[in-house]
Amino acid sequence: MNTLEAINRRASYRGSFTDKKVSDETLKTIVQAGIQAPSGCNAQTTGFVIVNEPEKIKKIATICQKDFVAGAQAIIVCVVDHTPAFQDMSFAAEDCAAAVENMLLAITDAGLATVWLDGVLRRDNIARQIGNLLNIPADRDVFIILPVGEPSETPVQREKCSFEQRASFNQWEKQK
Ligand SMILES: Cc1cc2nc3c(=O)[nH]c(=O)nc-3n(C[C@H](O)[C@H](O)[C@H](O)COP(=O)(O)O)c2cc1C
Repeated sequence: MNTLEAINRRASYRGSFTDKKVSDETLKTIVQAGIQAPSGCNAQTTGFVIVNEPEKIKKIATICQKDFVAGAQAIIVCVVDHTPAFQDMSFAAEDCAAAVENMLLAITDAGLATVWLDGVLRRDNIARQIGNLLNIPADRDVFIILPVGEPSETPVQREKCSFEQRASFNQWEKQK
């Protein structure tokens, strides 16, 4: 699959997953795509914990109150370090987002599916609860998690605005 094909096929998937195992090698390829992402000052502030023990997957699904997550073959937990990379500036959120987008594309390329789970971690101390389960130090934050598996149904990307609604050449034109 070429890059633009992966970009166009990528879609958030919240359905059921098949029982097909996802190999450690495939998971490493996906996370390596995240590691290759750009980061502010090349500070590489995102760390990754690959969870593929079924019991831990179920515990994370319970903590974040998302039943479909329990059916994933793995969960990639993205952990950020907010230490400033330059003067008083931290680019940790942007670094993590760049890594996650690379991984979404690698997951699509592997014929697997996922969804970027982020907002859901921000309530009820859920991010910290996952952090405690995985022994993540108090000065690092669980920021985004990606449940990964083979989808039972074909993921469908949500509709996007037209080019004209979102972009223009040389000057701002009325957008959405
Ligand atoms: C910053 C960010 C946070 C997100 N948080 C969640 C989330 O907590 N739960 C969820 O189900 N989807 C989450 N998503 C996925 C979006 O809902 C999804 O990308 C959007 O609806 C567009 O659909 P598409 O990914 O199929 O294009 C998040 C996406 C982004 C970029």
